[in-house]
Amino acid sequence: MKPFLRWAGGKQNLIKDLLKYLPPTEQVNRYFEPFLGAGSLFFATDYNKCFLSDINKDLMNCYRAIKKDPKLIAKSLERHNANYQKDEQYYYKVRERFNKYLEEKSLKQAARFIFLIHTSFNDIYRVNLKGKDNVPIGKRKPALPTLEYLNEISKKLKGNHLVKRSYNEILRARIKNEYNNSQKKVIVQQITVTIG
Ligand SMILES: C[S@@+](CC[C@H](N)C(=O)[O-])C[C@H]1O[C@@H](n2cnc3c(N)ncnc32)[C@H](O)[C@@H]1O
Repeated sequence: MKPFLRWAGGKQNLIKDLLKYLPPTEQVNRYFEPFLGAGSLFFATDYNKCFLSDINKDLMNCYRAIKKDPKLIAKSLERHNANYQKDEQYYYKVRERFNKYLEEKSLKQAARFIFLIHTSFNDIYRVNLKGKDNVPIGKRKPALPTLEYLNEISKKLKGNHLVKRSYNEILRARIKNEYNNSQKKVIVQQITVTIG
């Protein structure tokens, strides 16, 4: 399964090589991906009870929204695209709204985020120092994720933890607290953490 976003530093092109270094599913107790980004490795593996995190709040809101309601996200994307096909300046309206509601953790904001990335210049996500998206318009015919695809992504995300947090908090809190000292040595060998 492939990621639904293009993300700076995404490892999609390296997947074949990276997978060689990962242990088989049955040997992994818990999988941590603390720099989730587009989640290339997560989507390419079958690990269960994954702990997926990233410091980017808009990104994590987007994952949570797809997990919760892929149908609503697909509907919003369709609506955005219909408006965009009528008038390309609509891209800037969505960007303005996205920047206005930066603090909002909502399905609407998640749909704006996906729409903007897929229609922006080079499919990139970039923000200024105030955290506001400043990427100019790019694609006129975006390949937005379909309902079918979002349903699959949602299914894949079920049963996994999604949190907005810095990697050092994750490593400190989860690995330290989840297992007591006597177990730690053994269990840590069964945990897989992917870096970046
Ligand atoms: C190179 S990208 C990861 C790409 C991902 N492996 C993929 O294949 O799509 C690095 C990610 O780390 C996140 N990040 C940067 N600093 C972080 C931190 N201190 N804690 C957690 N995540 C961080 C960024 O938001 C970004 O999404």
